[in-house]
Amino acid sequence: MNHQGLLARRTRHMGVNAIREILKVVSQPGMISLAGGIPSPESFPMPQIERLCQTVIRKYGCAAFQYDLTEGFAPLRRALAQYLQKKEVAATEAQVLVASGSQSILDALGKVLITRGDRIAVEDPTYLGALQAFTPYEPVYVCLDSDQDGLVPQSLEAALSSQPIKFIYLVPTFQNPTGRTLSLERRRQIAAIVRRHGALLVEDDPYSDLRYSGRPLPPVKSLAPDQVVYVSTLSKVFAPGLRIGFCVAPELIHRWLVVVKQGNDLHTSTFDQALAAEYLTSGELARHVPTIIALYRPRQQAMLGALERYFPKSFSWSRPEGGMFIWAKGPEGMDMEAVYWKAVAQKTAFVPGKFFFARQGAGIETLRLNFTMADESGIEAAVRTLAGVVRAAV
Ligand SMILES: Cc1ncc(COP(=O)(O)O)c(C=O)c1O
Repeated sequence: MNHQGLLARRTRHMGVNAIREILKVVSQPGMISLAGGIPSPESFPMPQIERLCQTVIRKYGCAAFQYDLTEGFAPLRRALAQYLQKKEVAATEAQVLVASGSQSILDALGKVLITRGDRIAVEDPTYLGALQAFTPYEPVYVCLDSDQDGLVPQSLEAALSSQPIKFIYLVPTFQNPTGRTLSLERRRQIAAIVRRHGALLVEDDPYSDLRYSGRPLPPVKSLAPDQVVYVSTLSKVFAPGLRIGFCVAPELIHRWLVVVKQGNDLHTSTFDQALAAEYLTSGELARHVPTIIALYRPRQQAMLGALERYFPKSFSWSRPEGGMFIWAKGPEGMDMEAVYWKAVAQKTAFVPGKFFFARQGAGIETLRLNFTMADESGIEAAVRTLAGVVRAAV
């Protein structure tokens, strides 16, 4: 039977994840990968998880294994409301919605907000997973300019002044893929712009706890509470396999996200939520984040040092104060996918940056380097190998 004709029209826009296709080779033995977008398993608090599992079973018993509210497990929503207060996001327990990873919130936002042809404003480059979540709902992307300090406010102002924009999607802190952070001044300007235009902004914030230097910055949500859906996750500070994401949205959007979630998965795993609740309320999260930072900070320094030592002067790269990625740019027109295949032949992988652009053909000379998965000596070796490949290509 030919199943092609059975597929819904929206599948035409979904496509295969091109990154996944080219990264298939990364798991070959001996490969040093700077391609990953995932936390190091060494960052998972395994002994604490073992203890917390027992606490959850003792404390909640069968309730930890029962169906629960769509909005989320009450003790976790309470704990998240407190956690968010420290980030200057004012939210009551009732305003917090827990989801199965923040990725599922991006999809639910697409379902609730995007009608075919609606314009969605995105940074260029942006988080590929967000494009994957929104694209099946058939939006038209409006690409905003960004530089070292993140989204350029004038670009947002121009976009909002010239056309109706359904929402703006932004990763303001240690962005994936660039590692860039929106400056305080720009946060204020962007908050003022969205307030003035009555626009909706989706602020995706998975990385702000992974800060290795500098001072924390207030989320845009704290500067324009009614205009912002704040989305975050415990994936980078606990364990991504538990799939605990959460958001705080304006009331009407919150209600619709709940309706979508009912149809999607009824609720997020009760046991995982109970575990997360205990992780937060016992103070383990606050104690463990510095351990993760102590693991990643030297890796990032090793990468920055190696780039400085080995890469040609015709390259530039970001120097983020946190997160998981460094973004590099080669000479205009240099094709990083060609470099990728040569580097892979020498057992070193990264992600060509072009995959993160909504605009076709943009960013071919860019690359994303992850520094969480390899240790310092692996990073040093991988950057040296990569530098050899790019030197041969320039
Ligand atoms: C910017 C951004 N948003 C969302 C996610 C999804 O995270 P999760 O679904 O694990 O919460 C990621 C994961 O890498 C990300 O980088």
